[in-house]
Amino acid sequence: MAGSGCSARTRGCSPIKTLLITGGTGYLGARLLPMAAERARVVAASRSAAGLSDTYSPKTLDLRDSQAVLDCVEAVKPDAIIHAAAVNPGIDEASMQHTNHAGTKALAEAANRCDARLVVVSTDIVHNGQQAPYADDAAAAPINAYGESKALAEAAALDAHKNTMVVRTSLIYGLDAIDRGTAGFAKQLAAGESLRLFQDVLRQPVWRDALAQGLVDLALKHKTETGLINLVGDELIDRASFGQQLLSYWGIDAPAHLVQCIDAAQDPGLAGVPLNTELSLNRAHKLGLSTPGFSTVLAQHPR
Ligand SMILES: NC(=O)c1ccc[n+]([C@@H]2O[C@H](COP(=O)([O-])OP(=O)(O)OC[C@H]3O[C@@H](n4cnc5c(N)ncnc54)[C@H](OP(=O)(O)O)[C@@H]3O)[C@@H](O)[C@H]2O)c1
Repeated sequence: MAGSGCSARTRGCSPIKTLLITGGTGYLGARLLPMAAERARVVAASRSAAGLSDTYSPKTLDLRDSQAVLDCVEAVKPDAIIHAAAVNPGIDEASMQHTNHAGTKALAEAANRCDARLVVVSTDIVHNGQQAPYADDAAAAPINAYGESKALAEAAALDAHKNTMVVRTSLIYGLDAIDRGTAGFAKQLAAGESLRLFQDVLRQPVWRDALAQGLVDLALKHKTETGLINLVGDELIDRASFGQQLLSYWGIDAPAHLVQCIDAAQDPGLAGVPLNTELSLNRAHKLGLSTPGFSTVLAQHPR
């Protein structure tokens, strides 16, 4: 029963809410923590808690340990949880299943037990890329292991806890700290390796600040909204252009002979890459969430 495991919780009369954030050491987490801390008492949890400031009362928490997840949520007694931890593509499939699926299920069960609002960060990669644009509540149909683990995570969270909002987002970039994708490209170029950039893969990159703000709004302000919501930038752009513009923004030299713009659809080895994951922003716009497109953000933040 909701609330039974945390019946001793006392929040007193303080209007300050407690927000538990998983994935605080991650790329999104690095911006999410300070932005959330402007509006709530933040407790940050991650597997390592490495480098997390004491400002965020850091907790080590391995999502694969369901008892530890429950113990952590019971101890923190959060009003809301933003779940931004995940194992991203490139790591083995078993880890994706254990952390993304089982870990999210454990967190949702703990949130339900403790009657905490839950906001889960998901991905456009739950879609197969063949039926765009995708409505907020479009059924997931993943075509790779990461997408499958996130789709299972979505379903498990929504099933375990009514007060859950699942947020489907896309490529996250910041203009104050280089994103993982661009950093990887820079490393390849520095080693004299050529880049293969997909010109037929369409995404709506999301500015880290706008996503972080939206997640905090969904956790603290739009508390009665549940289910699925898309939250991305409102510009659809191919990955080759996106990659090249970010390299240029960060001042990384990308000589033409090292940059190949290719069609993922022509390579059977890339069959697991969804081609067009355009997400409709109906619900985000109804809620007044900010969804600036990539060109707009770049124009507003010249280097
Ligand atoms: N980055 C993107 O472009 C993108 C696109 C769409 C959706 N998303 C989603 O957005 C969210 C944030 O992504 P991100 O790029 O910021 O991730 P990230 O930089 O890879 O960080 C991952 C975070 O998850 C934590 N974590 C991993 N395994 C864990 C475990 N077993 N137990 C507890 N914590 C664990 C890590 O903690 P430690 O550092 O302590 O290990 C780290 O804080 C994720 O849900 C991701 O799926 C990201």
